[in-house]
Amino acid sequence: MEFTFKFKVYDTLHHNHLPNYLICVIKRVLKSYIFYLGVIYLEKLVINGPTRLKGEVTISGAKNAAVAILPATLLINGICRLENLPNISDVKVYCKILETLGAKIKWITDNEIEIDTTGVTCAQAPLDMTSKFRASYYLLGSLLGRCGNAEVGLPGGCNLGARPIDQHIKAFEALGAKVDVSQGKITAKAKKLVGTSIYMDIVSVGATINTILASVLAEGTTTIDNAAKEPHIVDVANFLNTMGADIRGAGTDVIKINGVKELRCNSSYSIVPDQIEAGTFMLAAVASKGDILIKNCIPEHLDCITAKIIEIGGTVEDYGDSIRVRMNKRPNKATVKTLPYPGYPTDLQPQMGVVLATSDGTSIIHESIWESRFQYTFELNKMGAKITAQGKSAVFEGVKDLTGAPVYATDLRAGAALLIAGVIANGETQLYNIEHIDRGYENIEEKFRNLGADIKRVSEPNAKIDC
Ligand code: UD1
Repeated sequence: MEFTFKFKVYDTLHHNHLPNYLICVIKRVLKSYIFYLGVIYLEKLVINGPTRLKGEVTISGAKNAAVAILPATLLINGICRLENLPNISDVKVYCKILETLGAKIKWITDNEIEIDTTGVTCAQAPLDMTSKFRASYYLLGSLLGRCGNAEVGLPGGCNLGARPIDQHIKAFEALGAKVDVSQGKITAKAKKLVGTSIYMDIVSVGATINTILASVLAEGTTTIDNAAKEPHIVDVANFLNTMGADIRGAGTDVIKINGVKELRCNSSYSIVPDQIEAGTFMLAAVASKGDILIKNCIPEHLDCITAKIIEIGGTVEDYGDSIRVRMNKRPNKATVKTLPYPGYPTDLQPQMGVVLATSDGTSIIHESIWESRFQYTFELNKMGAKITAQGKSAVFEGVKDLTGAPVYATDLRAGAALLIAGVIANGETQLYNIEHIDRGYENIEEKFRNLGADIKRVSEPNAKIDC
């Protein structure tokens, strides 16, 4: 609640274009007032388990596509309609940032906006807002493409370990921009962007999308070799192509972008269903020995999760635009290694960790993308799991049951995993730091409640926020 309150007040201040010194004074007064009251309210989830999840759930639009397509609208001069936007805090923050840059946004429903970028003149994104989350780095590519210069706060986001952006910078420089990283911000400037060949040293989702954004309006052809292939990269390319771009090969490891003079909003665009949300519910079905029909998903995007679920003893039925997952026994042990798409996604590693924590035997997970992704295992151990995490690997000695406990979401996907753990554990789990979950999952407790989970959101004064 304190988080939401701060966001609302701070955003309103910026939105009204008050001078910076005045904003600073108002923020200080607000801060002392909160401390004077001595009461800070935070929200937590209280979950009573165990529950076998049963029923239907509808998947929302993909968070990672939405946070790239929103800044991509800056490349268009005109009015665009986006549908199937997930109603999550990352999308709301992104919309606020775009408004600060001069875009006009009209909310048609909770999941649909009309965005008018005609009035965008400013290339300097508000540093305090952009430094809050990782995907703000897409403003660099899109503002460079639109205005030839961009200034963005060094990206924040989930604490998953070192998150370098050297490949983004390498691509901008190859296209002709001068990039400077200092004083907590990144500045990129280019008189003219000219297409070229760029080889990514690392398969990076963000660098691939940012290079596409910067080169769509560049002169000539840009080739990205060793590009990432995630479904949301294809979605961003589809969106831009719908608006007049010429991007070929998205979804393969060589993407070619033929620069065009301008993009025009030709029609509304519907964001692809969220692969990670769908995978989260697939694994929730397995962990809870339940039976869930997951609607509005793309089963091909979930092939590697399906394969793992079958390997550990579950059943998966593909109905074209929905998928049914069933499990009626303790999961078999397994070995999982996270890899770029189409490999097993790192963003579904903690949720798989909950499944393997109760597997029949000893399982191993190798994490090859994020060095701090095993933080959730310390929380799961508080619930009776027996996990030893060291470096890039964790060993899961399967236990029969988990027991409810107070636990802390250390990042977005860790939060989703601990929520599943709370659903299958005996007794009460109190899940703190849920603002992480709200960043990326729409109506999560309602969706779990509809599947039978006993879960409620509670405001608690003076809640402990440290992990
Ligand atoms: C995106 C997703 C995130 C997901 C991740 C991997 C969004 C908004 N976020 O993050 O949910 O966990 O993909 O699937 O889409 N790297 C470098 N240099 C760079 C860029 C990346 O060394 O310039 C490294 C990273 O440290 C990491 C790996 O490459 O080890 C992959 O990162 P990347 O694919 O870029 O992740 P994000 O785009 O940040």
